Amino acid sequence: MNRRTASKLLVLLPVAACAHRRTAVSAPAGPAFDAGPVEDYPPSSAVRFRIRGVIVVRDQIGVMAVSAICTHEGCVVSLQSDSLVCECHHSVFTMEGDVIQGPATRPLPHFKVTLLGTRIYVDPGQVVPATDRLIV
Ligand code: FES
Repeated sequence: MNRRTASKLLVLLPVAACAHRRTAVSAPAGPAFDAGPVEDYPPSSAVRFRIRGVIVVRDQIGVMAVSAICTHEGCVVSLQSDSLVCECHHSVFTMEGDVIQGPATRPLPHFKVTLLGTRIYVDPGQVVPATDRLIV
């Protein structure tokens, strides 16, 4: 790496650090996928991405991405009107991924959500605290 390349990296690092803000200007790093335009997520809505194993939820605070893989034995979780239900042994989770009914005992993990322009990106490779929300 020459000096010119190094200075470019130094300029780009602050941009990458701000990727969670609404003003992100480049695609998120990692295996993030495009979950669609933010207007597809009105308050109190949710969309399941079965192949990705993710459910994107917008509550009254903001947008979050919850794993659609049950913490009991790894089956897929279905989206119901106000809960998430495992298709195998019928554990029930809140829309935030907290356990309501077992046999699962652990909550569903949350993944990083980023807004790029007007589109929501979810990175299933980055687990974040359950309190994290993308404010839109
Ligand atoms: S795999 Fe979900 S309850 Fe068993």
